[in-house]
Amino acid sequence: MATQNLFLLPGDGIGTEIMAEVQKLIDWLNANGKTDFATDTGLVGGCAYDKHGAAISEEDMAKALKADAVIFGAVGGPKWDNVPYEVRPEAGLLRLRKDLGLFANLRPAICYPALADASSLKRELVEGLDILIVRELTGGVYFGEPKEITDLGNGQKRAVDTQVYETYEIDRIARVAFDLAGTRSKKVHMADKKNVMKSGVLWSEVVASVAKDFPAIKYEHILADNAAMQLVRNPKQFDVMVTDNLFGDILSDAAAMLTGSLGMLPSASLGAPDAATGKRKALYEPVHGSAPDIAGKGIANPIAMIASFAMALRYSFNMIELADKLEAAIAGVLADGLRTGDIAQDGKKTVGTEEMGAAILAKLAA
Ligand code: NAI
Ligand code: MG
Repeated sequence: MATQNLFLLPGDGIGTEIMAEVQKLIDWLNANGKTDFATDTGLVGGCAYDKHGAAISEEDMAKALKADAVIFGAVGGPKWDNVPYEVRPEAGLLRLRKDLGLFANLRPAICYPALADASSLKRELVEGLDILIVRELTGGVYFGEPKEITDLGNGQKRAVDTQVYETYEIDRIARVAFDLAGTRSKKVHMADKKNVMKSGVLWSEVVASVAKDFPAIKYEHILADNAAMQLVRNPKQFDVMVTDNLFGDILSDAAAMLTGSLGMLPSASLGAPDAATGKRKALYEPVHGSAPDIAGKGIANPIAMIASFAMALRYSFNMIELADKLEAAIAGVLADGLRTGDIAQDGKKTVGTEEMGAAILAKLAA
């Protein structure tokens, strides 16, 4: 087995507490011959600012660029609210996204059967749900120029945002979606508004042409407003959904919250494949932040972090069976009735970060 390099960036607040549980999983996997991960740990966010005066040091940036995958905790906290804008904790994450070229944001919505009754939808609609939203992250209306507000001089103002996409940006995100669908249930939907937007017309053309390169994957176009409706009407009809930055922002939040609380939601961000090795740069992180209100208390939910690590096993290392097992271990401890405070339920046992991590590891080892 070839050694794979993981670069761990726990960050601030609960980041260090939840990353410690991932480190224990990695140590166990290595010790039992399941993986051969070499890990290195760096500083990002407020803790990096305290030590280096920057949200990530050049040395740690270089390590992130060399790693096979970056596993990221969370950054920020009230301690750094007044540091200069360029070196605020979030700047570390933005720098990583930019320098690693992470244009594809992956947001799964997985419903654990034990938590199906906590969903805002009926149990039968969400039980067994497993959707992956693939959101374009570096283009579209959030970045397009012109982007301005002009004073018309007659008491009125005009605001302009511009949606811009070029063929290559759509092509590369579509390829990510079709690649990933190949490791899942082989179905891709693409959501746009080609009925009213020129960018949607181009998305439709480009994605349909990429689909031809993936004959084993079923491809369907859907209008974004209908996609939103279908997500809350019958979400299980979807597997992989690829879409632009704006629609992806909204659809991924909607899909994620069908299934759980912030402490449960993992994510991944992928870049272009390396010309020589075909491997994509990748960063895996929970959706939540550093939760300063509960940091240091040992009560944070480590599941979003551990599920992000499971995504790394699946999407960076093609360890599908191991990723399935780890996700099944998470589902298993929830079925056993263990809950951290954020997902506490009457009649279930409330545990802390370490106890939840240990229970998941024990299930994996069983
Ligand atoms: P947050 O996600 O840190 O917390 C929101 C609420 O959810 C809090 O009540 C928190 O206790 C709870 N929560 C979050 N994760 C949890 C977990 N794993 N287990 C149990 N409870 C959990 O968002 P907030 O409070 O808006 O931001 C706090 C700090 O985190 C800020 O400095 C913000 O800038 C930063 N942040 C960083 C992100 C990142 O590193 N990617 C993303 C979002 C916020
Ligand atoms: Mg959002």
